[in-house]
Amino acid sequence: MPTFRAPRGTRDLLPAERSAMLRLEAVAAALASRYGYRPIETPLFEQTAVFERGIGDATDIVEKELFRLAPRTDEGEAWALRPEPTAGIVRAYVQHGMQTLPQPVKLALIGPMFRYDRPQAGRYREFWQFDVEAIGDPGPAVDAEIIELADRFYREVGVADPEVLLNSIGDPVCRPAYVTELAAFYRAHADRLPPLERQRLERNPLRLLDSKEPAMVELNASAPVITEHLCDACAAHFEGLRAHLDALGIRYRLDSRLVRGLDYYIRTAFEVYPRDAAGQQSAIGGGGRYDGLVELLGGRPTPGIGFGLGLDRIVRVLEAQGAPTAPDPAAPVAVVVGADPAATAERLRVATILRGAGLAARSELAPRKLGKQLEAASRDHAHFAVIVGDELGNGQVQLRDLEAGTQKAVALDDLAREVARAHASHHHGTAPSP
Ligand code: HAM
Repeated sequence: MPTFRAPRGTRDLLPAERSAMLRLEAVAAALASRYGYRPIETPLFEQTAVFERGIGDATDIVEKELFRLAPRTDEGEAWALRPEPTAGIVRAYVQHGMQTLPQPVKLALIGPMFRYDRPQAGRYREFWQFDVEAIGDPGPAVDAEIIELADRFYREVGVADPEVLLNSIGDPVCRPAYVTELAAFYRAHADRLPPLERQRLERNPLRLLDSKEPAMVELNASAPVITEHLCDACAAHFEGLRAHLDALGIRYRLDSRLVRGLDYYIRTAFEVYPRDAAGQQSAIGGGGRYDGLVELLGGRPTPGIGFGLGLDRIVRVLEAQGAPTAPDPAAPVAVVVGADPAATAERLRVATILRGAGLAARSELAPRKLGKQLEAASRDHAHFAVIVGDELGNGQVQLRDLEAGTQKAVALDDLAREVARAHASHHHGTAPSP
């Protein structure tokens, strides 16, 4: 056992996984830009109140999963690591007066989040999200645009058949009456509620709806559904959203029990699952509308909508589907070797020249015999070995084409150009224009 290990619930992203994640981040950044979302980053920690107010006191995320940072002094502020980016982005929107910019303000953030969750497969204490927010547009067209963007992201990275679950969870006009009716329904069946759900009933009855407890699944099948209690404005919004999604050809499944785990949501709520996995705790993304959040965090009433997609889980899904998650790093074009094992400075200098010219080059820095150096070059699948010897005094090296088995002297001044030309013509059948 090593003395130190990564903290429980976290993991090192070793090169294979980090490369897979970087590929997703690159697709995310390119798509965000294509759709007009500009990059933003906020601190990894905020005043705890930003999350308590924004996400809600009575949510699992705040109640149980917040990583609180101990203040260093008595008068220190209470801080917590961000469990999600939306509250911090909205805090920044208010702080920087983005209400005066043309609306909506469209922002994208890709980065790590922290939740003190019980670690299990696909559930980490540090995980990465691709998040977008469109603040200042009441929808419903922008709601459809955001869902279409999420759907496109999964398809571009290669998730086979993502399934979008969609619901409207009403607003402060119609939801209270529904929640009262829902609570009354659960109270009437209190004897069937597991202890945890009985506690939740008094604080946040909506949460019982997406409980994964087997006893609850059965009970929930007969619970009142929100979509039958929507006010006219919410019903019209939901209808408008669906019409836009249909016009875009985006498939979704209506799920009247989808409620989401954050309190800021209003009207549109959605989650995405890998096909055939709905109902498990394996959402690969989720989002929705939060028209009250800007005001809650001190701004003028402003509508907003966004999503967060779970990059760690998407990497896992791609692996499980057997999809290639990231290309292997390219083999070096050239490996610099030398007859004098000790002449590491010369080999390094030649490799540096090639790298300066934009070529993938390695050099043997261990004082090993030439034969061993050449073996390593072949093992790396290098196209060329550059052999540095006495001729370097005359400004020359030997260029060996390891694939063709040919070798010739080349002036050091011409080396990079010659390697680039020969490599390009070999791999593309054409020489690059001079
Ligand atoms: P969320 O549903 O809490 O929403 O998280 C979004 C996604 O992050 C989840 O669907 C999941 O893929 C991933 N995720 C969450 N927790 C973990 C975990 N412990 N380990 C690995 N992945 C996880 C939000 O965070 C909202 N801020 C989304 C949003 C943005 N709504 C509006 N704008």
